[in-house]
This record gives sequence, C-alpha cells and structure tokens, in this order.
Amino acid sequence: MLNSADQNEILRRRTFAIISHPDAGKTTLTEKLLLYGGAIHVAGAVKSNKIRKTATSDWMEIEKQRGISVATSVMGFDYDGYHINILDTPGHQDFAEDTFRTLTAVDSAIVVIDSAKGVEAQTRRLMEVCRMRKTPVMVFMNKMDREGKDPFDLMDEAEKELGIHCTPVTWANGQGLKFESVFALDNRPAGLSPKLQEDLEMIDGVYPEFDREAYLRGELAPVFYGSAYKTVGVQELLDFFVKNAPSPRPVDAEERTVDPMEDKFTAFCFKIHANMDPNHRSCIAFFKICSGKFLRNTYYKHVRKDQQMRFAAPTCFMAQKKETVDEAFAGDIVGLPDTGNFKIGDTLTSGEQLHFRGLPSFSPEMFKYIENADPMKQKQLDKGISQLMDEGVAQLFVSQLNGRKIIGTVGQLQFEVIQYRLEHEYQAKCRWEPLQMYKACWIESDDEAELETFKKRKAQYMATDKDGRDVFMADSGYVLSMAQQDYKHITFHFTSEF
Ligand code: G4P
Repeated sequence: MLNSADQNEILRRRTFAIISHPDAGKTTLTEKLLLYGGAIHVAGAVKSNKIRKTATSDWMEIEKQRGISVATSVMGFDYDGYHINILDTPGHQDFAEDTFRTLTAVDSAIVVIDSAKGVEAQTRRLMEVCRMRKTPVMVFMNKMDREGKDPFDLMDEAEKELGIHCTPVTWANGQGLKFESVFALDNRPAGLSPKLQEDLEMIDGVYPEFDREAYLRGELAPVFYGSAYKTVGVQELLDFFVKNAPSPRPVDAEERTVDPMEDKFTAFCFKIHANMDPNHRSCIAFFKICSGKFLRNTYYKHVRKDQQMRFAAPTCFMAQKKETVDEAFAGDIVGLPDTGNFKIGDTLTSGEQLHFRGLPSFSPEMFKYIENADPMKQKQLDKGISQLMDEGVAQLFVSQLNGRKIIGTVGQLQFEVIQYRLEHEYQAKCRWEPLQMYKACWIESDDEAELETFKKRKAQYMATDKDGRDVFMADSGYVLSMAQQDYKHITFHFTSEF
C-alpha cells in the first residue's frame, strides 16, 4: 500500500468527463468550473475541443483545432482541497469513438442537457456507454434562463431516455425571463411563491432522497438546474460534486482487480494524439493511472512489448497548460511523448503482467474499401494504415473472402482525415471504393457447429478485426435480422466487448 500522504493524494482526486449533445453548454460549463478553480481568470478562455458545426466540410480546420486541443484534452485544477481532472470529449459526432474511449478513463461523468431541447441523440448514445460501465453520473439541466421544458418533464425525460433514476438536488426559482436563482432542496429559503411550494410538495412526494450508494452504483443521478452562461447553479453543482463524486475506484484487469491505493503503478492508454506537424511524427499517448504513483525517469514495463521504458518528459495538464511532471497519482492522466510504441489499450506496470479490459470497439456506421493508389508505395501505405488504426482513428477489417481491407468509421470526416494523413505523414496514396454495409457484428456462440455453418454460408460477408476475431459484415438491417432468426444460437454483438 502507498503511504498515507500518497493515499490522501488519490482520495482527493476527481476525474470526470462532461458529456452532452453539441451546443448544450459543455464548453461554457467547463469554463465556469475552471473559473471557480481559479484555473482561468476570464470567461471565453476555453475554446477547447469545440469543433464548430459549420466546419464539417473544412476538416483541415478541424484538425488544426484538434491540434490546439491537446492542451485542453485534460484540464486539472484544485478546488476546496480536491484535485479535479476534467477530460474533454470532442463534441463532433464523427469523433464519437474518441469520446467512448475517454469515458473508460473517468471515474464519473456530468451530463449537460439543454432544458429547451431535452435529451438529444448524442447524449443518449454516450449515456449508454456510462450505463454499460456503471459510471456514476450527475445531470445539469442547463439554459434555465431560456424558455424551456417544464423542470419535472425534463426529469421524466431524463429517466426514460437515459435509463436512470433521477432525484433533484437543486431547484430553479423561475424559468426563462423569470429565472433568478436556484436553491438547494435541503436548504430551502423562506417565503417561496405558491407555485414553488407546490413544486416542493410534489418533489417531496415523488422523488427519493439522494442516496450516495445508489449514485455510486450508477443507478441514481442527482439533478441540478441552472445556467452555465449566467453562472447560476454552477457552484451548487461543483460543491456537491467534489463531496459526492467518487475518487479513483478499483479497476478490473483480466488477471485481477487493481486497487488505486496499491503501491504498484499501473496505467492504460486510452487515447493517442498525433502531432499535426508532419515533419515531426511524434504523438502523445494519454495514460490513465489506475494504481500507485508514477515517477519521471523510472522504468516501467510496457506489457504488450515486454519491454522496460522510462519517460524523461511526461506531462500533466494543469488548467490549459501542459507541464512536465515528476510524479502523478492514481486518477491522474499523464501524457507520454511517443514515437509509435503505444497502441490504444496498452498497459504500463511496475513489472507485473497485466491487461486492462474495457476499451470496446463499436460497430462503425460507414464502411469503404481502401485501395492503394500508388503501387510504388505499398509498404508506406500498410504502415500508415496500421499506425492510424493503432491510434484509433478508425477500424480495420479484412475480408475473409478476398483479403481486401475495409475501413469502418463513424463519420465521413474520418475517411478524409485518413487520406490526408496517409499522404502527408506516410507519403502514401489511397483510393476509396464504395461498400454498401449496414453493421459489423462480433459473433459468438456455444454451438460450435452452428457457428461453423454460419461462417461457411456467409463466407462472403465474413471479415477479421484487428484482434483476429470473426466479424459478420451485414449489408442491411434485413439481412441481419434474418441471420438472427435463422441462427438462434449465435449472438450478434455491436461492440467488440461482450
Ligand atoms: P457545447 O460546448 O456543448 O457545444 O456548447 P457551448 O458551451 O459552446 O454553448 C453553446 C451555445 O449555448 C453558446 O452560444 C453558449 O453561449 C450558449 N449557452 C451555454 N450555456 C447557456 C445558458 O445557460 N443559457 C443560455 N441562454 N445560453 C447558453 P453561441 O451563441 O453558440 O456561442 P457564443 O457566441 O455565446 O460563444
């Protein structure tokens, strides 16, 4: 076990992500939290990972923004004795996969909902990941200064759409033009209007008291109302958050459960950020520390490569600055400069043979064949594809029928990113060929014979993923549901982890 001073460092850490549909107010809320932490001093300082919708066709601009966003990928600051790490997630839905992976590195999440729009698509999808991982979440109903949905309806919607029980912690004094303030339900001001008194009676009758254990199990979300823009309700959220959100929690590895307080260091890589300067191909590999303490210039084991490595310039992220650090603790994110040694999912340890689970791939939404457009550069192309896939830019499947390479993405943008980067970083040229495909499904069955029959019958639709697993490439929803009907003993999974 670590000594008590180090244990205290871990206990005071709160590592979380803010998730929302674009425009719900994630950037504004992040900024206000940083202001409370004294990490920034003026509003408007966080441009963050925000990728403007208008920029979708101009992805060069997006990549520039992604370059800038290295520093804002993690924002650390101290507040009221706690050390807070906010992990930024790209708002653009074409980068949803990045966001899913970031969620594997957090101990909790805050969901921001636009009170005029209610629960939107992206929030629903991200919340599915939280539910899968039993991540504790708090909900911030933002933009109460605008005319929006009724606060009770919003909670009903959140319960139904997000599949989680809700209980309010604060309540809004008015809404829209009449919105003034919020108050804590356990500290109610005197002289409330009859309307508000009616609300309170309803709340007391319907909603359970906040139960921290249920919250920590991911079953109950405390709900806050406010306006990030007007900085109302934000401090209430922050104070409640630091007191109730979990410090780093035990993490399941394949071999055993890892406790954050162990003195043995362990960490896994959840994100690789490429340098946008093509002349200088170095990356930053982001590691979430799961246990112990990380020290600069100390040898650690890179488990997949079975190699000892040490790091002279590890970085941590304070506010919006990247700083070299000598030590970091469980719960923290360290950025390790890398020249191609790391893949997403890699584990570093003090020497133990350990593998962390829980970095699922999701079925992509779009598929294309990738072909070589410059026969002299086959090697460069193969290397480029392989490294970009290690970075998690997209997923590669190889057709079992003809060996052709299929790239799967969540959005059109990634195809453009891949083509550009292959050309500029690897001097390789690629060409895309259309492929009508609905979903990639990882298949599993206890019935070996049925599985073999299926694979034979569907040979032309079978592919292999990066880990050598069988994937059924369904070309339409109809084909998939027919397959599900005909092969009752086969389970079709839409994520690689099951
Ligand atoms: P995002 O990161 O989730 O995409 O959202 P962001 O914070 O950028 O907010 C999206 C828009 O909503 C911004 O307006 C922002 O000012 C506004 N907003 C955020 N919180 C509130 C709130 O509590 N009340 C109101 N009324 N508006 C809010 P914009 O016009 O797109 O950008 P800007 O010019 O204000 O930066």
